[in-house]
Amino acid sequence: MPTSSASTLKNDRFLRALARQPVDRTPVWMMRQAGRYLPEYLQTRAEARDFMSLCRNAELACEVTLQPLRRYALDAAILFSDILTIPDAMGLGLHFVAGEGPRFHHPVRDRATIEALPVLTAETDLDYVMNAVRTIRGALNGDVPLIGFSGSPWTLATYMVEGGPSKDFGIIKGMLYREPDTLHLLLSKLAEAVTDYLNAQIRSGAQAIQIFDTWGGVLTTPAYQAFSLDYMTRIVNGLIREHDGRHIPIVLFTKNGGQWVEQIAASGCDAVGLDWTTELGSARARVGDQVALQGNMDPTVLLGSPDAIRSEVKRTLESFGHGQGHVFNLGHGISQHTPPENVSVFIDTLHELSPQFHR
Ligand code: CP3
Repeated sequence: MPTSSASTLKNDRFLRALARQPVDRTPVWMMRQAGRYLPEYLQTRAEARDFMSLCRNAELACEVTLQPLRRYALDAAILFSDILTIPDAMGLGLHFVAGEGPRFHHPVRDRATIEALPVLTAETDLDYVMNAVRTIRGALNGDVPLIGFSGSPWTLATYMVEGGPSKDFGIIKGMLYREPDTLHLLLSKLAEAVTDYLNAQIRSGAQAIQIFDTWGGVLTTPAYQAFSLDYMTRIVNGLIREHDGRHIPIVLFTKNGGQWVEQIAASGCDAVGLDWTTELGSARARVGDQVALQGNMDPTVLLGSPDAIRSEVKRTLESFGHGQGHVFNLGHGISQHTPPENVSVFIDTLHELSPQFHR
């Protein structure tokens, strides 16, 4: 069956902004836009056995991908899946502990275990993800582009070595300072797996790619370069950049990575995602027109009053300023405690205020 073909997009603002081309208003999507703050998500999740069953069912994954787009005029869809699908497919035994987040039954902490990790073929080992991408592309019918994603090698490694979420990353950082070659071996294997996984998503229909480096910001500057950014750069160099007649843009998001925006911009990516701790305007001055910027409203603003939301949307737009190359987003994933009506205030305000930044 052919995948959706050399498609015209009804709304290409997101891709245009990533290419730093003119747009009529600032495009927007939200990290973790499908999720527990939406009652309809909770209902669909109750139909699946658990979160991973939801990811493995293409029809249900498609349904929850589209749910936020039915409520809000967002300019991109993001594949409903998780960054931990790769270690799960490698056999680490992913499970979720209520209230504590993801865990692995078999963390990897020594060289022999890392050497024995299987080499994945994403098309087959993660075929459920590719099925979801194809199903979502079909259902979107060209309304907005579909973003595919992966975790960065460093961020995946933190979960694989720590065995779950961590406060101080003592186990993996201990490995970094005791056995750097062992950690480099793990990161090399992950960089290959991520490259193959993202290329399979692109071939299946993903029209842009975001790499989530959620934990790069816990590293020192030289360690960030050597243990996170170098591997993301390797991935950027290995990705399909032209598919179905279109450039495939890549967004690199390092949480707490604002101090490294120049280095990240030099990776060959199309855009740098920023959290709220960096001023967009100063980041823009530092990268010039090398890349687009994505971000960066603090997601907790959406727990505040409508007036606070409106004023932070305005402040964020003013911080970037006039002209091309801004994709509006939150600085990290939306909180599960967000009242859905506050998202409407956010998106409506953006639609009202952002056109003046493009005249
Ligand atoms: O953005 C989207 O809407 C697409 C879906 C998406 C999910 N996870 C769905 C999800 C994306 C892009 C992710 C990425 C992800 N997963 C990251 C990187 C982004 C970030 O937030 O920094 C990370 C670190 C993970 C690992 C992970 N998976 C965590 C920390 C959790 C939350 C655990 C919890 O109980 O809070 C998950 C599970 C998860 N992934 C949920 C969703 C909607 C919640 C599962 C549920 O329904 O209970």
